[in-house]
Amino acid sequence: MDFLNKNTSISQFILLGLSSSQKIQVLFFIIFLLVYVSIVAGNLLIVISVIFDNHLHSPMYFLLANLSFFDLCLSSVATPKVIADFLRKHKTISFWGCMVQMFLMHFFGGGEMSLLIAMAIDRYVAICKPLHYKSIMNHKTLIVFLLLSWVIGFVHTTSQMVFTVGLPFCGPNVIDSIFCDLPLVIKLACTETYILELLVIADSGLLSLVCFILLVISYMIMFITLVQHSSRASSKAVSTLSAHITVVTLFFGPAIFIYAFPFNSYSVDKFLSIFYSVITPLLNPIIYTLRNQEMKAAIKRLSSQITGFFLAP
Ligand SMILES: *[C@@H]1O[C@H](CO)[C@@H](O)[C@H](O)[C@H]1NC(C)=O
Repeated sequence: MDFLNKNTSISQFILLGLSSSQKIQVLFFIIFLLVYVSIVAGNLLIVISVIFDNHLHSPMYFLLANLSFFDLCLSSVATPKVIADFLRKHKTISFWGCMVQMFLMHFFGGGEMSLLIAMAIDRYVAICKPLHYKSIMNHKTLIVFLLLSWVIGFVHTTSQMVFTVGLPFCGPNVIDSIFCDLPLVIKLACTETYILELLVIADSGLLSLVCFILLVISYMIMFITLVQHSSRASSKAVSTLSAHITVVTLFFGPAIFIYAFPFNSYSVDKFLSIFYSVITPLLNPIIYTLRNQEMKAAIKRLSSQITGFFLAP
């Protein structure tokens, strides 16, 4: 496909990985494999529980299941190759493999960002406008939220990748990370990339920062509303809110650091991109299955149904 990009003479990038020691790489292989298996199992468990359990058929859980689905996709873009790479001496990725990786990561990342906002709106309506909850958060609203998150993810990634794909890459092709990351790849282009760097800072960094600030403010308003109208249900509501805030902080925190200040501190970036690819997708399962009583009950029902199914004569 090189005819698409006449100025690019390199056909692949070299990834440096995390360590050059064979033993440490095997250790990373085992750790990352275990984490990835947990990500897939945990997020699948959430999706399956929400789809099959009637008790969880509410907007909040539908959004959560869709978030888990995005997590599953997000972590599957790069992590399987990263894991296989730990056992390879020379880690490479083709030019287009690298572009597709960045496109998909920002696609699912942007979608996830939008879903987190949708989840906050859902909780906001539930807490601050409880009487209108059923009429506002109806099936149609939910579908609109879901469609919007796919569209926003697509626009977000396309707006950056359109320019990145066209960059001339002619010389250096070594990426000091475990997968292709937008700031690191842009740095390799043999042309002035100042404008594109600004675009990435605005599109990924500032966007994350603004969303994060708005989300924190709206969760603070919800907390205050809850405290003022303390009722029976409020401790459950507070625990749901704290779960949401934890996920939001751990999702946006690394994103803001990677993309709002992307073109100077590489060692931090490397650490954060690991965090982003293996820790964040594991968060929803951990936070929601360990802390949420309804989710726990649903998983118990699901597992007894499954054992019942297999034990049935
Ligand atoms: C996403 O949400 C919709 C609710 O509108 C639901 O029908 C669907 O099953 C959810 N998707 C996943 C993967 O959970």
